[in-house]
Amino acid sequence: MLAFLQALRFRPASSSTTRHRTSVACRFRRSALVFLMMLFMGIGTLNATPLKVGIIVPMSGPFAAYGKQILNGAKLYLKQNGTSAAGREVELIVRDDTGIAPDLSKRLARELIIREKVDILAGFGMTPAAFAVAPLATQAKTPMVIMNAATSAITTKSPYIVRVSQTLPQVTAPVAQWAAENGIETVYTVVADYGPGHDAEKQFTESFTAGGGTIIGGVRTPVSSPDFSSYLQRAKDAAPDAVFLFVPSGEQGVAFLKGFKARALAKQGIQLIATGDLTDEDVLDSMGEPAEGVITSFHYSDVHDSPENKAYVQAYQEAYQERPNFMSVAGYDGMHLIYTALEKTDGDSDGDRFMEAIKGMRWISPRGEVEIDADTRDIIQTIYMREVKRVGDALHNVEFDQIDRFRDPGKE
Ligand code: PHB
Repeated sequence: MLAFLQALRFRPASSSTTRHRTSVACRFRRSALVFLMMLFMGIGTLNATPLKVGIIVPMSGPFAAYGKQILNGAKLYLKQNGTSAAGREVELIVRDDTGIAPDLSKRLARELIIREKVDILAGFGMTPAAFAVAPLATQAKTPMVIMNAATSAITTKSPYIVRVSQTLPQVTAPVAQWAAENGIETVYTVVADYGPGHDAEKQFTESFTAGGGTIIGGVRTPVSSPDFSSYLQRAKDAAPDAVFLFVPSGEQGVAFLKGFKARALAKQGIQLIATGDLTDEDVLDSMGEPAEGVITSFHYSDVHDSPENKAYVQAYQEAYQERPNFMSVAGYDGMHLIYTALEKTDGDSDGDRFMEAIKGMRWISPRGEVEIDADTRDIIQTIYMREVKRVGDALHNVEFDQIDRFRDPGKE
C-alpha cells in the first residue's frame, strides 16, 4: 500500500512539454490520491459505524427472568469476545416488553428500527412478541434473532427471522416417544393456551399415539396467572399413568409442582413428564423435592458434560452469582451468530447479506453442536432426555439419553 502511494507522488518536470505532460499526470495522480483517501475514509466510516442490536425482552412482570437470563448470556458473550464485531463496535439497545403485550413489542420494534436505526432485532422471550414484530422485520429487511420464543411457525412469518433457541415440537417429541417406550400407556395433557402450548399438545399427541400410547384427556390453561387447582383435580380424576405438562418456564411451573404434591398425584401413581421448560435452572432450586424424578426432554442442562459447557457455567456464575439456563445460552449463542455472520459479510449488516450468512452456520454451543437449518432458519441440535436428581445439595437435570441433530419434526 505504501509503495502504491509513493508511486502517486508528485515529481518536478525538466522541460516545457514534459512539464505539461507531467502536470496532467500530476493532476491525475492527485485526483487518484484524493479518491483513495475518500475511499479509505469511507471504509473508516463504515467500520466506525456501530452495529446496533435492539433487544426486546421482558424485563419486568411475571416473565422478567427471561430478559435477565437472555441479556446475561448476550453480555457474557461480549465480555469474552470483545465489544466489536468485524471492526464495528457492538451496541446493545434493550427494551422491556413486559411479557405478553404484542402491541407494545411492536411499538418498541418500530421505534428501534426508525428512531434508533438498529441493524438487527433480537431477544423475543414470548411467542406473541415474535409474531407481532415479524411483519416489521420483513418491511424493514431487518434481521430478527429469536432468543427464546418457541412456537414452530415463528420462522415462517418472515424471511428475516432466524431462531437460536428451540421449537416446542422439537423438545416435545422425544419425551413423548420415551413415555411410549417406558411403560406409560395413558397420558393426560396440560398445556398453556397459546402457540407453544398448542404445539406441545399436538406434537405430544402425535408422537405418543404413534408409539402406541393413549391420550385420555387434556386441558388448556390460561397463559397469564393460572390457578392450577381445578386443572390438577381434573387430571387426578382422569387417573392417567402420567401427566404431560407445558407451561412457560418460571413461576407457573413452581406453582404447578406445588399443587401436584398438595393433591398427591404422585402418591396415586401419576408420573409427571414435561419439556425442560418446567425444570429450568432459574427456578429448579425453588421447586425443591416435588421436582425430584421429573422426566423431561430439552436442549440444555447446566450440568451437560462438555468442556464448553463447564467453561460457560463457570464464567456465568462468576459474572452473575447464579445458575445459567437455556435462555441465557440462547442469548450467548445469538450473539455468536451475529458476530460470525458479520465476519462473513466483512461488517456489512445489510439484511439480505446477513440472512445469507447465517444459513447453514454451525458451531459448538455450551448445549452441544448446533446448526442453523439453511431451509427453515431454525436450529438443529441435540435433544437430551433428563431426570431431575439431587446432586450434592442442588437439584439438576441429569441427562441419560440423547437424539443428535434433531430438527423440528413438523418441518422435516
Ligand atoms: C414462548 O412464548 O414461545 C415460550 C415462552 C416460555 C417458554 C417457551 C416458549 O418456556
